[in-house]
Amino acid sequence: MIQLEGVSKSYKVGSEQITVLKDIDLCINQGDFMAIMGPSGSGKSTLMNIIGCLDKPSSGKYYLAEEDVSQYNDTQFAKVRNQSIGFVFQQFQLLPRLTALQNVELPMIYAGISRKERERRAQDALQKVELADRMHHLPNALSGGQKQRVAIARAIVNQPKLILADEPTGALDTKTSIAIMDIFSKLNAEGTTVVIVTHEPEIAALTKKIITVRDGEIVDSTSVEGGHSQ
Ligand SMILES: Nc1ncnc2c1ncn2[C@@H]1O[C@H](COP(=O)(O)OP(=O)(O)O)[C@@H](O)[C@H]1O
Ligand SMILES: [Mg+2]
Repeated sequence: MIQLEGVSKSYKVGSEQITVLKDIDLCINQGDFMAIMGPSGSGKSTLMNIIGCLDKPSSGKYYLAEEDVSQYNDTQFAKVRNQSIGFVFQQFQLLPRLTALQNVELPMIYAGISRKERERRAQDALQKVELADRMHHLPNALSGGQKQRVAIARAIVNQPKLILADEPTGALDTKTSIAIMDIFSKLNAEGTTVVIVTHEPEIAALTKKIITVRDGEIVDSTSVEGGHSQ
């Protein structure tokens, strides 16, 4: 489903060129449930942003569903992002003045779906993350775990084949984190490819495959033993 070939990413900082990702080869198959681990500053978010079409490699090739998206222009890029990928972030990124339901409707507004259909699909998505009873609440009135459920509902509402989550449990306690991972496991069991970044080995152990990044390179790739293969 996803193939990175010799992907590098460099930034110019002042007169210096710093290389954040070095010649990355990575294959993600449809149905994978993968954790990306590694120390802070090792390049995990940069890698996720490239996979998520939020950023382009400085060199190398990126194939998404057999299309070389490294050649796409900004409009094509935005379209792939909106239609094929669901994003979840550590700090939830909900709009504070919109209710849970309205937040979940947002990606469908960009996709040009009618109001009635938006509402129906947003309700379904919130049902799926077991938050239907809070749909008219503002984010402020929700706990961290509930906010992350809203963010997941928003990520799945356009039915993407791929979900990317950058430290989705980073702001949550252990019990809530496990409940959130449970939702990802269920989505994966239904066929969605899920890739998460995490610092926590206990969280990574709930996936099926762990990739370790260090200094911009993939240094290890391990299948999780007895992992959540459904
Ligand atoms: N836009 C940027 N300009 C310059 N350096 C950057 C930029 N984005 C990230 N970096 C640097 O790249 C390195 C990797 O960052 P990041 O991918 O966020 O790491 P991680 O998510 O593993 O903590 C860090 O040293 C960071 O400072
Ligand atoms: Mg990061």
